[in-house]
Amino acid sequence: MEELKSTISSNLKGKGILACSGGQDSSLLAVLCSVAASDKVLAVFVDTGLLRKGDRKRVESLFTTYQINYRIEDASEVFLSRLSGVYDPEEKRKIIGKTFIDVFEGIAKEYGAKYLIQGTIAPDWIESGGSRRETIKSHHNVGGLPENMNLKLIEPLRDLYKDDVREISQFLGMDTDIQPFPGPGLAVRILGEVTKEKVQLLQDVTEIVESEVISQYTDRPTRPWQFFPILLPVQTTGIHGDKRSYGYTIALRLFDTVDGMSGTFSKPPMAFLEKISTKITNGVPSVNRVVYDITNKPPATIEWE
Ligand code: XMP
Repeated sequence: MEELKSTISSNLKGKGILACSGGQDSSLLAVLCSVAASDKVLAVFVDTGLLRKGDRKRVESLFTTYQINYRIEDASEVFLSRLSGVYDPEEKRKIIGKTFIDVFEGIAKEYGAKYLIQGTIAPDWIESGGSRRETIKSHHNVGGLPENMNLKLIEPLRDLYKDDVREISQFLGMDTDIQPFPGPGLAVRILGEVTKEKVQLLQDVTEIVESEVISQYTDRPTRPWQFFPILLPVQTTGIHGDKRSYGYTIALRLFDTVDGMSGTFSKPPMAFLEKISTKITNGVPSVNRVVYDITNKPPATIEWE
């Protein structure tokens, strides 16, 4: 803890902006920065338009609770327009990374910051082709960064793993019940082109899945580590009322792991999967099929893109 705080203050030779997604990693970093160098750090939360329903409010409440110097930037139109017509997962990730940096550079200029502080942790850079492995996917806070970025990057958490972050956050009395959510947001859970309509659909389904899983597994340690729906780029035939429907397919990913690096698909009771499936197809009528992902990591990754 003390080491992390001194890394932050000794590396900051001027003002910095902190990229805060509201996830466990960057939330911890925001709290540490506000203790270590509150007068020099502005925490920035970017509303990409690719978030879950309650994300923005939750982050705002973190900022106010911990008296963090912050700014919330609504850049949803830019993100969605740049993603229009893009189908390739790596291209999506790169576009999102570049757009984040454009937004951050604009804010840094206004604030007079020369540093960008990020909550990158070890699995992010290892899987983005850090020194040890081939690029598996460009995690937005690593592989998506342009080479000629004007801001100097500081990553105080880069040697930590997810379980380390959870432990330190717990020690600081922070909420540790934050489910990991990828920086590129719902864009990597919408296979194929991302549109505003598909984002809204997936937001609705995500709300159902999260609330069902949380109420099913009230005992936190037994709950899957991550649980979310993916919107597939296939439509299939179904029946709605007594009419033919041609609707979307949702895949469910419920996953058990310690640190996100490897793990196994969760094995919930069939009756519970059936309940979620019914809730989704009743609550979001444009979905008429739900499938369950039974793949471990490896060979699959947790996210589908
Ligand atoms: P994968 O899909 O690589 O995911 O098995 C491992 C964990 O990382 C999360 N994830 C990300 N987190 N930026 C992030 O901050 C990203 O670009 C990103 N991509 C995946 C994923 O949700 C899982 O918890």
